[in-house]
Amino acid sequence: MDEVNRRLLEIVRRHGTPTYAFDIRRLRAQVEKLRTHLPPAIEILYSLKANASLGICDVLRDCGIGADVASAGELATAVEAGFPSQRIFVAGPFKLPETLAQLRDLPAAVISVDSPSELQMLAEHRLPNPIVLRLRPDFGSQAVVAAGHESRFGFVGEDVSSCRTLVNSRAVNVIGFHVFSGSQYLNAEGIVAHLRGALAISLRAADTLGITPTLLNLGGGFGIPYASTAGELDLGTIGEELATLTQRVPTTRIVLELGRYLVAQAGWYLTSVLGHQTFQGRSAVVVDGGTHQRADMCGLCLRTKASPPLVLDASTSAVTPTDVLGCLSLPADVLTESSLLPRLEPGNVLAFANAGAYGLWSSPAMFHGSPLPAEVAFDGSEIQLMREQRPARSILDDQRHVVVRGHDA
Ligand SMILES: Cc1ncc(COP(=O)(O)O)c(C=O)c1O
Repeated sequence: MDEVNRRLLEIVRRHGTPTYAFDIRRLRAQVEKLRTHLPPAIEILYSLKANASLGICDVLRDCGIGADVASAGELATAVEAGFPSQRIFVAGPFKLPETLAQLRDLPAAVISVDSPSELQMLAEHRLPNPIVLRLRPDFGSQAVVAAGHESRFGFVGEDVSSCRTLVNSRAVNVIGFHVFSGSQYLNAEGIVAHLRGALAISLRAADTLGITPTLLNLGGGFGIPYASTAGELDLGTIGEELATLTQRVPTTRIVLELGRYLVAQAGWYLTSVLGHQTFQGRSAVVVDGGTHQRADMCGLCLRTKASPPLVLDASTSAVTPTDVLGCLSLPADVLTESSLLPRLEPGNVLAFANAGAYGLWSSPAMFHGSPLPAEVAFDGSEIQLMREQRPARSILDDQRHVVVRGHDA
């Protein structure tokens, strides 16, 4: 049994299941890998939407990267984790009053604006923050989860020209652009095409507005291999492209915003087998977790595509095709289909790898009145609890009774 398996079993012994466990060394290694291959001038932001756990943010802030947030809650988390405000980027389709109130105390945080209407609203609020305009890609996206020209986000060409007067009036401090064209890019060529397209539309928009951009957020969407047959992204090729790109705009601050690439492979989702079942003629087990805590399973078809879970305490090595079913009364609550697994017994612990991004934090976690699972970090042999597993009654914590008045029968 390797060291990580031992650590995961110890986490289950201490904190039970279902539990998310995060490998801090793996998180740091991922940042290191990016630093090795990308030009030093490229700044990396962590997109909290992938996983807004405070503990994860603590580690990534300590690694010296910035934060990309898209809500008041993510902004509060980034501030609490200690990201310097000039490295906090606040995006999202329209900033809510609570976000604007927080921004008053963070004048160096960069705001990404999604539409002319939002730019006008910010001008009325007289916020001094530097602003980048999010531009809708006019090029196709090769990302698995694409946000190309068909996307609802960002300025289209005529939107940019319509803002020229406002931008030049200095009522808003527009210093550059932001382009994101999708998540889970699996090959470097797709990312190179994105970077070229993003730079081209940014320079065109700068021309239209008559400004020289000092900041470009070129998105990212770097993907990770969920299937054992898939390969790692070729960062070397992306690094070379970025080196060429920075030479074209040598005085411009260039940032990338990455979520999945930084955290997915550091996360494990741990569940215990409750009992046996059959599904479509195959043997199956039911576990104490489910897709309500694994939003990442859906959309990417991970139940058929991802590597099978590890059985941390398997007693035999002979394997049979087995389905792992979640504990919801929902036909689609299937965590893995036809995985080759050893004979499972109640109490066996299954560890799903690559579960660190878009899991709990993107999930319909309250479905069936489910309490939140534990979140735990481990750094070598050190184990730290990030969030205790909540008891079933915790779902009542924030609720009030309705006073039911008698009615005439
Ligand atoms: C605007 C924006 N930035 C960054 C991200 C993070 O993407 P990823 O997790 O693929 O790095 C997303 C994800 O949807 C996004 O919409």
